[in-house]
Amino acid sequence: MKETGERVAAPQSRIVAIYPGSFDPITNGHLDMIERGSRLADRLIVAILENRRKQTLFSIQERVEMLTEVVRPYPNVEIGWFHGLLVDYVKERGANFILRGIRAISDYEYELQIAHMNRRLSPGVETVFLMAGEAYSFISSQLVKEVASLGGDVSGLVPPLVQDRLRRLLGGTGEGLSAASR
Ligand code: PNS
Repeated sequence: MKETGERVAAPQSRIVAIYPGSFDPITNGHLDMIERGSRLADRLIVAILENRRKQTLFSIQERVEMLTEVVRPYPNVEIGWFHGLLVDYVKERGANFILRGIRAISDYEYELQIAHMNRRLSPGVETVFLMAGEAYSFISSQLVKEVASLGGDVSGLVPPLVQDRLRRLLGGTGEGLSAASR
């Protein structure tokens, strides 16, 4: 309190959310979640899992590049990456909650397990779920890679720059996509 008796405003608490995933590659379903999530939080951190034990189609650098480009229109969204436990990263970034999307019942059981495990590991960490937009409920990174590798059209399923990268990498020949990278 100042000597004049003037009230000093309490610092505004800002809501920080973490949206984690493999993003190998980012799809329009992810982008829909990012757009909607960015309206729920003051800051949304899209956190890419760098899983050294799992082979991915795109390297961590490539995924960071693609995500950085596609989130450019959202000023309160930033890109981060992590390895190890998600809850540790959540604490490190001072986030208030984890954001995840659910497309169908099949996602629900997996997401429930992860959310319970994270809450057990770190009781203060909440997970907030958004239902995937109906136009995106069938899209997964895995299916996109399979379709692209077999020469199918993935426009409308991924951002154009991801489509270009998939074309360059896979060429629609069916080659270049090993079972391990699915
Ligand atoms: O896009 P994905 O592959 O469905 O994302 C899964 C992700 C990254 C959210 C999950 O695998 C994860 O959080 N991994 C980090 C390791 C971890 O914290 N494991 C314990 C909780 S399951």
